[in-house]
Amino acid sequence: MIRTFQHYDLRDRNTFRMKVYCRTFIEYDSEDDLQELVPALLPSPVEHIGGSSNSIGQRGDYRGLSPENDIGGGSDSIGNMAPLKHIGGGSNPIRNTARLKHIGGGSNLLFTGDFPGTVLHSAIRHIEVISDSDDEVLVRVGAGVEFDKLCEWAAGRSLWGPENLSHIPGEAGAAAVQNIGAYGVEAKDIIKEVRAFDLVSRRFLTFSVEECNYGYRDSFFKSPEGKDRYIITGIVFAFRRNGSPILEYGNLRETLLSRCPCPTPSDVRETIISIRRTKLPEVGEVGSAGSFFKNPVVSREVFGNVVRISGRDEASVPHYPVPGPGGEPWVKIPAAWLIDQCGWKGAVRGGAGVWPSQPLVIINASGEASPEEILALEECIRMSVSDRFGIVLSPEVEHIQ
Ligand code: EPU
Repeated sequence: MIRTFQHYDLRDRNTFRMKVYCRTFIEYDSEDDLQELVPALLPSPVEHIGGSSNSIGQRGDYRGLSPENDIGGGSDSIGNMAPLKHIGGGSNPIRNTARLKHIGGGSNLLFTGDFPGTVLHSAIRHIEVISDSDDEVLVRVGAGVEFDKLCEWAAGRSLWGPENLSHIPGEAGAAAVQNIGAYGVEAKDIIKEVRAFDLVSRRFLTFSVEECNYGYRDSFFKSPEGKDRYIITGIVFAFRRNGSPILEYGNLRETLLSRCPCPTPSDVRETIISIRRTKLPEVGEVGSAGSFFKNPVVSREVFGNVVRISGRDEASVPHYPVPGPGGEPWVKIPAAWLIDQCGWKGAVRGGAGVWPSQPLVIINASGEASPEEILALEECIRMSVSDRFGIVLSPEVEHIQ
């Protein structure tokens, strides 16, 4: 089934819980529905603007927004939609992504204002075992499944794999785009393949985990070639019957083993949930998008500057070794620490704020924060970290204009 709404309030569709509107919101239940939608979303022939870089993402002059360009009627039809522009000259032919946005659970995005186009959402929600050998269990999961429901499902069957990713808000499709990660595990570690609809060829394709080209909160689906061209409809995850807990992150091992010497996937899940509850705001109670910034990866030289500026010794500045360009030994510094050093913990600016126990999380402090207030706080934090440490933080949260 396809459900279509006009002038739709996205407050319940973004975990920041911001009241912003999109022109059209469409939710679909199956791959067949998606295929049925595409001709209306990408009418043929599409408007073609060759190499016009400054026409990307400009909102004001978009003809599709004027009523005379509407191609359909009532609120439950799929016709009342702005046509998409198709801009050539790049390796990704679906360029005018500002008009069409596919969202998951809205957990990693910031609408920077009302969205003058169509927001799509998948309600494909099956969890289906497709192969069950002695050890490996392959599970096909619809993109619209809440990722934590999948973690709960696996733990309830004593399957190893997603337990360290418990309690992360968002849906499976978005998890596969973002390569979500926590407590030493990333989505890529348990993904076997990803099924996606290609808006250009209008066919379903299967990507192996290698083809997804996963990195730290990164994937092919976020690259210039892949961004907004593919709509993920399902993921095959590989879980294990005879796995063992991954406890290397922070004090997870001590915390867990003090409670249960032979932990099951459920024990790990419960411990992770209790740790996350002490650090992160509860989704549904306080609006946020989780970590707002990525942890910067810097050269030893830049790290040396950070140590010097902080007036500490190296051992007391948190950092983790990671391979840099050409395999050089670089370091990852927790952005939370940099922000904390700049005194942001618990700060409130207008309706926006910084979560007191994890300053990497920007919150909708008043419950009524506007996109401008969140963006202003983001900028202040970025400037202060840059002024003090010379490191420019990059957002992990996708900004949708
Ligand atoms: N820290 C401070 N002050 C604080 C809190 C933390 O200085 O108030 C420093 C501490 O040194 C601490 C370090 O920051 O050891 C790291 O903190 P934490 O373990 O909470 O992890 P993180 O690096 O801030 C990352 C992910 C989280 C994930 C946790 C746990 C990113 C951007 N964030 O946070 O992911 O849950 O590790 O694995 O990589 C998310 O992506 O939305 C997210 C919540």
